[in-house]
Amino acid sequence: MAQLVAAMASVHVPLLTSAPHMANAAMWEKIHHGFDTLRETLTTSGADTLVVISDEHFNALDPRRYPSFGVVTADSGVGPVENWLGMPSNSIKVRFTPDLAETVLREGVSQGFDLTRLSEAGLEHGFLTVLNFLTPKWDMNYLWLIQNCVLPPLPSVKRCYEFGRMVGRAIRQWDSNRRVAVIGTGGLSHAVGTPDMGKVDPKFDAKFLKRLCANSPSLLKITDAEMEAVGNGTHEIRNWVAVAGAAEGAKGEVVMYEPMMAVGFGMMRFQMSA
Ligand SMILES: [Fe+2]
Repeated sequence: MAQLVAAMASVHVPLLTSAPHMANAAMWEKIHHGFDTLRETLTTSGADTLVVISDEHFNALDPRRYPSFGVVTADSGVGPVENWLGMPSNSIKVRFTPDLAETVLREGVSQGFDLTRLSEAGLEHGFLTVLNFLTPKWDMNYLWLIQNCVLPPLPSVKRCYEFGRMVGRAIRQWDSNRRVAVIGTGGLSHAVGTPDMGKVDPKFDAKFLKRLCANSPSLLKITDAEMEAVGNGTHEIRNWVAVAGAAEGAKGEVVMYEPMMAVGFGMMRFQMSA
C-alpha cells in the first residue's frame, strides 16, 4: 500500500511570480527559507507523488458549475491558464495520477462525500505558485483536489477536516508502492477585491496556526464569521485544515510567517512518522 510520508501547507500568493518586485531582498530571504525547508522535507520523505489541495479562482472552472469538493481525474494538466501570472501561458505540463484520483473518488463516495469528477482542469495559481518553488522541474506525479473556498455557501471547516481525513485514508489504502505527500495551499488572512484588500490580521493567523499545529479539536471551532472578519481570502485556510485531517493527529510546526505582500504569509509542515 502507498504511504503518506509528508504533509504541509503554504500560501499561494500569485504576486510571487506575477510581481516578484513586491518583495524586497529581506522578504525574499524569508520566502526562500520557507520554500527551501518545505522542499527539503519533500526530498527527505522520498515522496514521488504530490497531492495538492486548493481552491480554484474561476480561471479554469466555471462558477456556474463549481463543486464543493472536486477530484481532477485527468492524465495530465497544462497551465497557467492565467496570462498575468508571470509564467508563459500554458508553458507547464504536469503528469497527474488518475489511479489515485479514482481511489479518492471511490473512498470519498463510500464515506458520504458527493465528490465531483473533473476530467479536465487547466492549471492556475492555486496549484502552480507553490509548486513553482517546491518542484521547479515539475517532475513528480501530481493529484489536484479542489475545495470550494470562494463561492458561498462554503463547506464547513469540520467538513474540510473530514474531507482531508478521507483523503489520507484513500492514500494509505491505495494499492501502490508510491510515497505520497500532501500540501494545502491558500490563505492565511487576506482580502481580495474588497475595501479591506491589503489588510492582514497576524493575531488571527497566530491563533489559527497554533490550533493547526496542535491538530486539536479546537481547530474545528473556527467559524465562517471569524474568517470573513479578517478578509474573504481567509476562507482558504480550509485547505490547511484538510491537510491536518489527512495527517491524522500529527503535530505540526510553523516554517515561516510574516505579514507581507498583502497576506499573512505563512508555511508549515506536520511531523509525519511514516
Ligand atoms: Fe487564493
